[in-house]
Amino acid sequence: MTAEKSTYGIIGYPVEHSLSPLMHNTAFKELGADAVYKLFPLQADELDQFFKDLKDKNSPIFGLNVTVPYKEIVIEHVDALSPFAKKAMSVNTIVIDEGRNLTGFNTDGPGFLAHLVELQFNTKGKRIAILGAGGTTRSILASLCLIPERPESIKIYNRTVEKAKQLVKDLSAHMDVSNVEVESSIDDLNIELSDLLLNTTSVGLKDPDDCLVDGELIHADMLVYDVVYQPAETLLLKLAKQQGAKTANGLGMLFYQGMLSLQHWAGQEIPQDVKDQVRKALEKGR
Ligand code: ATR
Repeated sequence: MTAEKSTYGIIGYPVEHSLSPLMHNTAFKELGADAVYKLFPLQADELDQFFKDLKDKNSPIFGLNVTVPYKEIVIEHVDALSPFAKKAMSVNTIVIDEGRNLTGFNTDGPGFLAHLVELQFNTKGKRIAILGAGGTTRSILASLCLIPERPESIKIYNRTVEKAKQLVKDLSAHMDVSNVEVESSIDDLNIELSDLLLNTTSVGLKDPDDCLVDGELIHADMLVYDVVYQPAETLLLKLAKQQGAKTANGLGMLFYQGMLSLQHWAGQEIPQDVKDQVRKALEKGR
């Protein structure tokens, strides 16, 4: 009998459209690793058993990504949390060691920051406007509040205002959120005065012709970032381009969070040529 391959994968629901298998299986191939990355679509009532099985010393699973809707609930299933995951109260990466101990990390926020570095956007002293207050905003906001390059202001608007308020309140227990403001109307975001407009809502994903923002408010000195990467250009990004703004979609964030997850599993830096191949595969396979 041959030993089962070291297995990695993503848990969530739904996960069918995830690009993570393409990303990590490309990386394993480039690294020459005898490992495979799989989709684990799980219903909420299957979580307990799944985590119980992970403790089995014969389990081939040594690492996981976690996506919606389980990034918060998995905290109760891991044995330890990285300092950042603990502060963000959100886990997107789990490392399982030889003793079957589970450690939770969050690479979403750091992945976003890495993409900002690539885009040559320094957050220090900048005015940031965020649309949405879901899981993506949670990890990005936690990162923005913890980095030394502190933005001057971060304004958040969410359709459900209470959710945004709760999110900021949650984070306030672990970090300085004094530069963060929750707005009850999109007009109060002052998009026209922002240096970075970030959309974390699923609006452009559900309908590529839908957009929460009045395009006229976007200006040329601005970076407009949509975490949606499918379609590659949402209406928001189209309007931003028309206004001469710099634009980016979330494929870069996806790439960097994935490479950081892989680094946690591998316990070492991923060589640049491997990363380059993964980026190429992602650009092609989107
Ligand atoms: P994620 O983890 O990707 O951030 P999420 O937690 O489901 O996903 O968050 C989705 C975000 O998109 C939320 O901010 C949601 O607003 P609500 O909190 O009011 O639900 C936002 N969103 C989704 N559809 C929207 C729409 N049609 N108009 C405005 N906001 C919308």
